[in-house]
Amino acid sequence: MILLNRFFDLLGDYNMNSIWKRFVKKDASSNVTDKIEQIKEFEVPQHIAIIMDGNGRWAKKRALPRVAGHHEGMKVVRKITRIANKLDVKILTVYAFSTENWKRPKPEVEYLMKLPEEFLGTFLPELIEENVRVEMIGDFSSIPTHTQRAVQKAMDDTKDNDGLILNFALNYGSRAEILNAVNNVLKDVEQGNVKEKITEDIFSQYLMTRSLPDPDLLIRTSGEIRLSNFMLWQLAYTEMWFTDVLWPDFNETHLLEAIEEFQKRSRRYGGV
Ligand code: FPP
Repeated sequence: MILLNRFFDLLGDYNMNSIWKRFVKKDASSNVTDKIEQIKEFEVPQHIAIIMDGNGRWAKKRALPRVAGHHEGMKVVRKITRIANKLDVKILTVYAFSTENWKRPKPEVEYLMKLPEEFLGTFLPELIEENVRVEMIGDFSSIPTHTQRAVQKAMDDTKDNDGLILNFALNYGSRAEILNAVNNVLKDVEQGNVKEKITEDIFSQYLMTRSLPDPDLLIRTSGEIRLSNFMLWQLAYTEMWFTDVLWPDFNETHLLEAIEEFQKRSRRYGGV
């Protein structure tokens, strides 16, 4: 017994730490790598759309200002982009700012409009290296000039990349998108550019997502079960996955869990 106590004394804190790092922690990351390979044996959603909710509550739980939650949430976007790319997901659409978010207090809006600059200022070189293409849906013309500049630069610098598309829904609202499409259809009909009946395929070409397939999987965090004016047309046959996890706490394991659940679903598109 005395000998055993002496053995543990000798091990000390540092050694226990390194044992943890070598075996337990390494296992956790290799678990993610193994899981990615397992998941890739089955159908991986081509297009994943995410409503990143819960930043404010995450901050409040820690007695931090709401913007601290947004900042943490921004880092999660990077983490999830990396793993989505490893999974060979083709498009990741993230709802970063809705047309309704202008109703928030001015300092919060200003902070949110600075985040794309910070995100792209920090991570653009890595995104380029990982062959990611940055895209945006939403009303570009009414976001601040400094935000426009950052997003435009990222889109220009990555336009030839053919890996994952990281699509920011920024100043995006689905009803406005649909109305805008309807008005453009009317204009084209008036000008005689459209003579046939408008089909779903033709109408889709008037939406901001014209070059993208509809999302296969929608994820919303933070326990809210609603769409909040997000991709209403495009989500018609999308599989949805809701979690109570707040966006800043969302990690690789949660994404893998959502995809595994997606792989268990049977998509019938109204058929049998
Ligand atoms: C909703 O949470 C979240 C938003 C309105 C903003 C989401 C933005 C990010 C995650 C960062 C964007 C990142 C980049 C790269 C531009 P909420 O504030 O409504 O949370 P609450 O419901 O808990 O208050």
